[in-house]
Amino acid sequence: MSDEAGLALIDLEPARTRFLEDCLAGLRAPTKTLPCKYFYDQRGSELFDAICELPEYYPTRTELQIMERHGDEMAGVLGDHCRVVEYGSGSSAKTRLLLDRLEKPSAYVPLDISRDHLLASAAALARDYPQLEIQPVCADFTQPFHLPKPTRTPRRTAVYFPGSTIGNFEPREAVRLLQVAHRTIGTDGMLLIGVDLVKDAAILERAYDDSAGVTADFNLNLLERMNAELDADFDLASFRHRATWRPGPSRIEMHLVSLRDQTVTLGGERIDFAGGESICTEHSHKYTLGSFAELGAEAGLLVEEVWMDPDRLFSVQALRAT
Ligand code: TRP
Repeated sequence: MSDEAGLALIDLEPARTRFLEDCLAGLRAPTKTLPCKYFYDQRGSELFDAICELPEYYPTRTELQIMERHGDEMAGVLGDHCRVVEYGSGSSAKTRLLLDRLEKPSAYVPLDISRDHLLASAAALARDYPQLEIQPVCADFTQPFHLPKPTRTPRRTAVYFPGSTIGNFEPREAVRLLQVAHRTIGTDGMLLIGVDLVKDAAILERAYDDSAGVTADFNLNLLERMNAELDADFDLASFRHRATWRPGPSRIEMHLVSLRDQTVTLGGERIDFAGGESICTEHSHKYTLGSFAELGAEAGLLVEEVWMDPDRLFSVQALRAT
């Protein structure tokens, strides 16, 4: 399969039945949850891009600033003829800052769960980087997948994992994902990863509950998506977005709170909500330099360099196999 730019796409987009089963499993549990990977349909991806532009959402602009200031050093650490595999590439905005500075990058493999979004940004990159081999893979990067064979053999493979998406995994799953990255890069590759840092609770909570309500729309879009794709009947007006910082587990918790007692139908099943009961849609773990180094060590990865903004809000870290 290929699009108008002639890009071959490997399509492993999760099927509708899987979406339904995952949602039902989460909503049947005593503490209701929904898997956060389903946020990113076309509208969700667009809303997420809008979140990234919000004044309260510091991670994106801070990470971009770190990439702009220290991209040369990162490129130096990755070296020439490097293949870049990106987990959750989205609109690939940060990637450009990296690709621009790399010496003769051999291939770019963007992985994303949102097919149309992936193809659009891959096509834009193909126009802007005509020398670069671009091999998009539509996949859930938490599941096993094969990397496409590059035309030119790279000197090394780097996994680029920006955006602090690692924070959206429970620590145990995060270690497993780092192990997958470790396997992908082998013994002489690098992992370049964005890691959001622990900071003042008020800054964190505002970043996940903005005054314009874009984050609320993003969270509620998950219910809208279930209505549209799974014939569910969520009444969006009777759920509210909530974001809370929990210092113990060191994470922001995103919830959709039911404003009243109600029953929702999904896949022919009735799901009861008490007033005030919530669905947890996402955790966003924040790390210290120490706690992230420990996480990496558990996956056999050693932190080699850390780049931060002057206020130490966010970090980009280079890790290699121990
Ligand atoms: N990976 C993003 C983060 O944790 C995702 C995100 C931002 C998000 N805002 C959100 C997820 C609001 C759910 C609700 O920073």
